[in-house]
Formats: sequence, C-alpha cells, structure tokens
Amino acid sequence: MTAEETQSSIDPSPGVSPPGDVTLRGTGPQRIAVLPGDGIGPEVTAEAVKVIDAAAERFDLDLELVELPWNADHYLATGETLPDGALDDFRDNYSAIFIGAYGDPRVPDMKHAADILLGIRFGLDLYVNFRPVKLYHESLCPLKGKGVDDVDMVVFRENTEGAYVGIGGNFKKGTADEVAVQEEMHTRKGVERIIRAAFEYARDKGRSTVTMCDKSNVMRYGHELWLRCFDEVGREFPMIETQHLYVDALAMQMVRRPESLDVVVTNNMFGDILTDLGAALQGGLGLAASANVHPGRTSMFEPVHGSAPKYAGLGRANPVGAVLSAALLLDNIGHNEAAAAVELAVATSLERGATTRDLGGDLGTSEVGNLLAASVRDARSVAK
Ligand code: NAD
Ligand code: IPM
Ligand code: MN
Repeated sequence: MTAEETQSSIDPSPGVSPPGDVTLRGTGPQRIAVLPGDGIGPEVTAEAVKVIDAAAERFDLDLELVELPWNADHYLATGETLPDGALDDFRDNYSAIFIGAYGDPRVPDMKHAADILLGIRFGLDLYVNFRPVKLYHESLCPLKGKGVDDVDMVVFRENTEGAYVGIGGNFKKGTADEVAVQEEMHTRKGVERIIRAAFEYARDKGRSTVTMCDKSNVMRYGHELWLRCFDEVGREFPMIETQHLYVDALAMQMVRRPESLDVVVTNNMFGDILTDLGAALQGGLGLAASANVHPGRTSMFEPVHGSAPKYAGLGRANPVGAVLSAALLLDNIGHNEAAAAVELAVATSLERGATTRDLGGDLGTSEVGNLLAASVRDARSVAK
C-alpha cells in the first residue's frame, strides 16, 4: 500500500486512547515485554509485533521488545507460571506489557492464566480495564440500520476486585451436601477510582455522558456502594451527563440503542461480559482491543478475545484486536501519532474488505498483519 492509499475517508475518532499520563522509564529505549501466551495468542502477537516494528521504523521510535516464554507449554514443562520478581521487573524496567491470550485445555483450572494474566492486572494494580467498542465500518455491524456513528462507546471495567478476588471456598466438597461460596468484593477506594477515571476521561475527551451499570436492585450491599459513589463522584463533574442502568437493561440498550451509550463504567465481571457483547457489535471478537491501565505506571495491553484453541495454528485468527491493542500501547507510552497511524491502517483495511474469514474476507492472519505493517510504514502524518 502506498502513502497515497493510506489516506482514508475514515478519521480515527479522537477519544479512543487509554487514560493516563505517558509512562517513561529513564533514558534509552522504551522496553516492552511481549507475552504471546497460548492458542492463537502467538499468531496474533506476531502480527502486532510486526506493526509495532513498522511504527517504530516510520516514526523513529526507540523501542526494545523483549519476548517472554511464559505460557501453558512452559508451565506444563517447568511448573513455572509468573516467575518471582517478574512484577517488580515490569514495574521498574519496562514501559509496557503486551499479551496475546491465555487459556489451554490441558490446564483446566487456568492456574497459569490466573497467575500471569490476573497476576499482572492485580499485582501491578491496573485498575482501569479500558475497552473501546467502536464500529469501523457499517457492514461489520450485526444490528439493522446501525452505522459508525451509532456504535462508539468506551467501557471502563473495574479490574482489581469485584467477583475476581477469589474469596470463597467449598464445604463438604464432593458430597451431596456440598456448599460452594464465592464472594464479590467492592471497596470504596476501588469503586471511586474507576468511576472517577471514567468521568475524567469523558471530560478530557469531550464525551457527554457516563453510564454506570450495576445490579443494585438485587446486590443491595456491594452494588449499592457503586450507586452512592457514582452519585458523589458525578457531582464533581457537572458538565457530564449521568445515566444509571441495571445490567440487564444495559445489555438490552447496547443492542437496541447503542447510540445512547458513550462512556460506560461497571464492575469487573459485568465489564467482562458486556465487552464480548460489545465486540459482537463491532464485527466480532477478533476486532476488540483493551488496555489494562494504572495511570502513570507500567500498563498491560491485550486483545479482548481468548486463545480460541480451535483456530490455533491454522493461520485463520484475526490479528486486528491485537493490532489495535498495540495502538493503545503506543498511545499510552507517548506515541500518539504512531497509534493513530495504526488505527487508520486498520480502518482502511476494514473499509476495503481486506480481512480474515471471520469478517468475510479470504486473507490469513499474517497476510492481514503484513498489509497493516506496510500501511503503517507508508503512513503520512496523521497526528491527532
Ligand atoms: P475465545 O475468545 O478464545 O473464542 C471464542 C470464539 O470467538 C472463537 O471460537 C472464535 O470463533 C472467536 N474468536 C476469538 N478470537 C478470534 C480471533 N482473533 N479471530 C477470529 N475469531 C476469533 O473464548 P473462549 O473460547 O470462551 O475461550 C478460550 C480460552 O481462552 C479459554 O481458556 C478462556 O478462559 C480463555 N480466555 C482468555 C482470555 C485472555 O487471555 N484475555 C480472554 C477470554 C478467554
Ligand atoms: C478477559 C478474559 C479474562 C477475564 C479471563 C481469561 C480470566 O475473559 O480478559 O476478558 O475474565 O477477565
Ligand atoms: Mn472476557
């Protein structure tokens, strides 16, 4: 693709960049840890790396990518998941972390994924799971009569507590009298900071409305705390409209009137579920990107999809979610022009139907990656 051809009618919308200040680590290259993971993770990561390399070349970025082998194979061979000291190393010596996907049928309890993926989210206190739901081309949306102006929201998923804290246990396990208890945990500090992050983002990016979603009609303790915090924090941002929806109603509105949603803030598990629904509105799980952020600290970037074992090794997986996650990473470490070029390359390729099979195209994973990398290498200045 030439420089001329990278010009597209699609503007990367301002606003799809993760929250937080630029994370800089001393002098010398910015080091990025790359964890390809399991299943289709390595395939989509290889393409994201190609695109990052192309962006580094085109925009003269001093990046050092360090690939780390921790995945299911490594765990099954060595018993090691996330090595001791890895979190400190990331925090002190890396500007960002990129992850492909975790999950392997040979590890049914997800032990390695819990240690590595959730270990990084929790251990680095990456409390904002930022998940844009953005339709790049009308033809990709499964909803009748909805276009790119209708599907453009960002989900702020709380990422360090809720149903993910692993508090609970079994009593009389394996008997007919078995009891299983699993607790949600919501702290005032945790709830307040994710809600504040959503409002600050709306204010800074010129978005009009923050919608908070919970199930406080049933969860009268944990989710009622969210209601109070939303009300209190919302008062600090009088210029931003607020909306409260129970999660069942929000799921319905995402399908019926996605244009009524702008910035959405919710707890860990609802955010997980709603962003797979959001991915479907964008065209599929192969397209959805995410950033796990603690503003100002080393943060982690990964596609929303999992390891899709049935597609592993077939060269069929869509690399776009990984590539757009790489764009969020570049933006977070201070390279917004490079990030915009990556997003424009994706938008242009989708507009032209240059896609993998999940989107109706006939290209393989690396063909899409090569095309996107070439497009970024030839990009004109696209600063936003
Ligand atoms: P999944 O996201 O891996 O796949 C669900 C389906 O979505 C696939 O079968 C496929 O049809 C489609 N899909 C997903 N990614 C795609 C891509 N890049 N291109 C084309 N199609 C794609 O979800 P799952 O099947 O429920 O989970 C598989 C494993 O991944 C499990 O072990 C699960 O726990 C794990 N998982 C990991 C993450 C993560 O690492 N962040 C996220 C979700 C699931
Ligand atoms: C996601 C995934 C993870 C989650 C799993 C693999 C632990 O579904 O990132 O969306 O539930 O957060
Ligand atoms: Mn998920």
